[in-house]
Amino acid sequence: MRKLAIIGASGHGKVVADIARRKGYKEIVFLDDNDSIHECGGYPVIGKSTEAGTIDADVIIGIGNAGVRKQIQESLPDEKLVTLIHPDAVVAEDVVIGKGTVVMAGAVINPGVRIGKGCIINTCSSVDHDCEVGDYVHIAVGSHLCGTVSVGSGTWIGAGATVSNNTSICTDCMIGAGAVIVNDIRESGTYVGVPARRMDMEEKSVKKCGGGGYPAG
Ligand SMILES: CC(C)(COP(=O)(O)OP(=O)(O)OC[C@H]1O[C@@H](n2cnc3c(N)ncnc32)[C@H](O)[C@@H]1OP(=O)(O)O)[C@@H](O)C(=O)NCCC(=O)NCCS
Repeated sequence: MRKLAIIGASGHGKVVADIARRKGYKEIVFLDDNDSIHECGGYPVIGKSTEAGTIDADVIIGIGNAGVRKQIQESLPDEKLVTLIHPDAVVAEDVVIGKGTVVMAGAVINPGVRIGKGCIINTCSSVDHDCEVGDYVHIAVGSHLCGTVSVGSGTWIGAGATVSNNTSICTDCMIGAGAVIVNDIRESGTYVGVPARRMDMEEKSVKKCGGGGYPAG
């Protein structure tokens, strides 16, 4: 199989490399703008993110920050980008998944789901029937979207959060770890708790979580 270049030599990048290895990539390399990082997960860092467009390899972005992921992905030709799905994820046959999206181990994606480009469907999360997930969304570890949920682009669903069936979350939201969403969220912002309520601390929270939504870049 072809070579894969992963942009972002981070902890998340390391997990992406592990999926790539299981999917049969024989050669895996990293690109990172930090000159002091020379390897990640046992794979070499061979250049900067700006080299992704010209390298003779498939490309995927291993960066948690949605704003950065969006900026880099949209600067790349679509044909270079791949979608990576861990062999131990369960994905229904009719699911549509965009380029640059990574689906981690133990994730379950049920029939009728559409997932945009550049998303992270993280370890042991689930996306139930007929959900619509926008671009550059992160469904964090162990979080669950019940049936017919819609999540707007750039939104981060925190670890262990649950989104009740038939609810909609707008673009660029940060849903805190463990939150339970029971009503539609129509205004971008940070929401925590059970049931979830808006926090008045957007700047701070986006920084801590590596910029869940586009506004933090
Ligand atoms: C919601 C979140 C973004 C807020 O981060 P923050 O702005 O730095 O907030 P702080 O940690 O300063 O906490 C501010 C207050 O909110 C509370 N709080 C923070 N996160 C909370 C959460 N998830 N649920 C309930 N309350 C929360 C804190 O206890 C604190 O309350 P206090 O003022 O009464 O002491 C963050 O805590 C969070 O949940 N991040 C998600 C992390 C995650 O899912 N990672 C996944 C990796 S795969």
